[in-house]
Amino acid sequence: MSGSDTRLRVAIIGAGNIAERVHASFYHMCSDTHLVGICDNRPEQAQLLATKYGCEAFDDVDTMLSTLRPDVVSVCSPNRFHYQHVLTALAAGCHVMCEKPPAMSPAEANEMRLAARKAKKVLAYDFHHRFALDVQLLREQVAAGTLGEVYVTTARALRRCGVPGWGVFTNKTLQGGGPLIDIGIHMLDAALFVLGFPAVKCVTAHSFQKLGTTKSNGQFGTWDPASYSVEDALFATLEFHNGGILRLETSFALNIPEQSIMNVQFCGDKAGATMFPAHIYQDDAGQLVTLMQRETADDLRHARSMAAFIDHVKGSPVALAEAEQGYEIQRLVQAIYDAAEQGVTVAL
Ligand SMILES: NC(=O)c1ccc[n+]([C@@H]2O[C@H](COP(=O)([O-])OP(=O)(O)OC[C@H]3O[C@@H](n4cnc5c(N)ncnc54)[C@H](O)[C@@H]3O)[C@@H](O)[C@H]2O)c1
Repeated sequence: MSGSDTRLRVAIIGAGNIAERVHASFYHMCSDTHLVGICDNRPEQAQLLATKYGCEAFDDVDTMLSTLRPDVVSVCSPNRFHYQHVLTALAAGCHVMCEKPPAMSPAEANEMRLAARKAKKVLAYDFHHRFALDVQLLREQVAAGTLGEVYVTTARALRRCGVPGWGVFTNKTLQGGGPLIDIGIHMLDAALFVLGFPAVKCVTAHSFQKLGTTKSNGQFGTWDPASYSVEDALFATLEFHNGGILRLETSFALNIPEQSIMNVQFCGDKAGATMFPAHIYQDDAGQLVTLMQRETADDLRHARSMAAFIDHVKGSPVALAEAEQGYEIQRLVQAIYDAAEQGVTVAL
């Protein structure tokens, strides 16, 4: 902050799709923030966004942080770089909003969590679906017991042919995996949030690489099947210590009739619920009875996630997808990949 300008000075690392679509546009319109710099290892990409938002462009993270001394940093680089960019930003005294997934491994996410604690800075992850009013409503109702004991949850993040045609999403070395770490993680997080993060006992999983290496174009453009190195579909079952199970189904490519499904269904012994839009229902002698319903799913969830982060940085006790939970999610993602790759049940 400088002079009479009390706005938080913000810088962004990684000037790609999510930086432009969510982070830069949010900081630009938020009255509490002033976007001062954008960094990308592709200088022309940093310049493109910096020109659009009237801030400085950099191609080196350290130079940007030492020159601008921002209060807040958004990390929007590919997964492989989250760890190093988050640690660098925390060491420079910044609060950090990092894109999901937190990192490439639980060990990295653990270090990031400890570094934030030591620096006494906020480290939040952009698990934005939990900020949807639908998800918040279901969390309240599950906590209030409206569904009774929730014993089966099905989380789906499925695309018929939606391999991302931009970025490095098909590169295991830079991304850590395919649909599980990219989109499945979103529905896993939202489902666990609604359930109140019950302790996981063990995980089994199966992953497939059938279509990403043979097809080359779809809903989100084209990709190179020869260098496709991530799973294209994965199915996991999480067993909770409370006796319940969560089934996770996720794909970039899978022969299903729907183009895309991003939703979660909860089955309790008193009622069931669907997440998007929030709908709570039960059976009455064979008839479906609605107990609660939102007409349409909340589409402001991404802005709400960003606003919660800034409010929290400013001192409001707003709940976040914070570093501790990010670490837990990363442990589960690793357990699911280990279970799939080794064909074993992984205990947590
Ligand atoms: N929350 C969400 O719904 C959501 C949606 C999309 C992407 N994401 C996440 O955001 C991140 C970026 O995804 P994207 O779709 O914007 O990808 P992208 O490829 O469009 O953007 C990434 C940018 O980072 C830059 N970059 C690469 N290495 C860098 C480095 N070492 N230093 C600085 N910049 C570097 C690239 O040049 C690129 O411009 C990923 O982690 C992804 O999982 C989250």
